[in-house]
Amino acid sequence: MRPATIAIDGPAASGKSTLGYYIAQYLNYLYLDTGVLYRAVTWAALNQKVAIADEAAITTLAQELDITVSPKIQNHHHEEDGRQYTVTSDGQDITWAIRTPEVDGNVSPVSVYPGVREALTRRMREIAAQGKVVMVGRDIGTVVIPDADLKLYVIASAEERAKRRYEELLIRGKRTTYEAVLNNIRQRDKIDSGREAAPLCAAEDAVEFDTTAYSKAEMFKAIIEIVENWNTQGNN
Ligand code: DC
Repeated sequence: MRPATIAIDGPAASGKSTLGYYIAQYLNYLYLDTGVLYRAVTWAALNQKVAIADEAAITTLAQELDITVSPKIQNHHHEEDGRQYTVTSDGQDITWAIRTPEVDGNVSPVSVYPGVREALTRRMREIAAQGKVVMVGRDIGTVVIPDADLKLYVIASAEERAKRRYEELLIRGKRTTYEAVLNNIRQRDKIDSGREAAPLCAAEDAVEFDTTAYSKAEMFKAIIEIVENWNTQGNN
């Protein structure tokens, strides 16, 4: 027996999506990085010049936006650009457009709006209902699928997370500084943990997973152990 639904939560750049993607491949499960949905709404707002402070307009956007997240390669031009999935909004490929510092800087306020959360949570639950899914986010184990078979809460120090995110941005040719990235991460931690609707926190029955001192290989080894030992711990 293996867990059919896996919920992975944690702060920005904690390693949760690297882990989630890996374990989804390992189990041959569907992978959904739910931050993508909040990012797509934020990107659309910036793109359509909808003010981030306009809660009603942003909420409508979240309800009406046609977002798709599909496994990896949609056309051969993208084969080697390092994507884990392809995101489209109204047919346009926005996989990388949602990863800019501009979206990073506006996504937390967008995700505070209860109406936005409600619209996106509904979509997530529809996807989770199919089973065999690894879902990654902030409130997956607490709100979106509280009955998930396995819940992980992934953490790492803010400095280590900033270092990882900064290196990622450099590789993709974005101009920024380590300090700016660290500031953004601290700011997002504060908003994500402090908001009233579905704040970032560990579910009571989540397994804590600290990646600060782990290499990717060590992270992968540890998560396989957790998954393979799942039903020997009385979870079935
Ligand atoms: O994981 P990420 O950095 O792509 O997430 C972007 C933002 O989306 C994050 O700052 C908070 C929000 N988010 C959320 O509120 N709930 C989720 N389940 C996933 C993301």
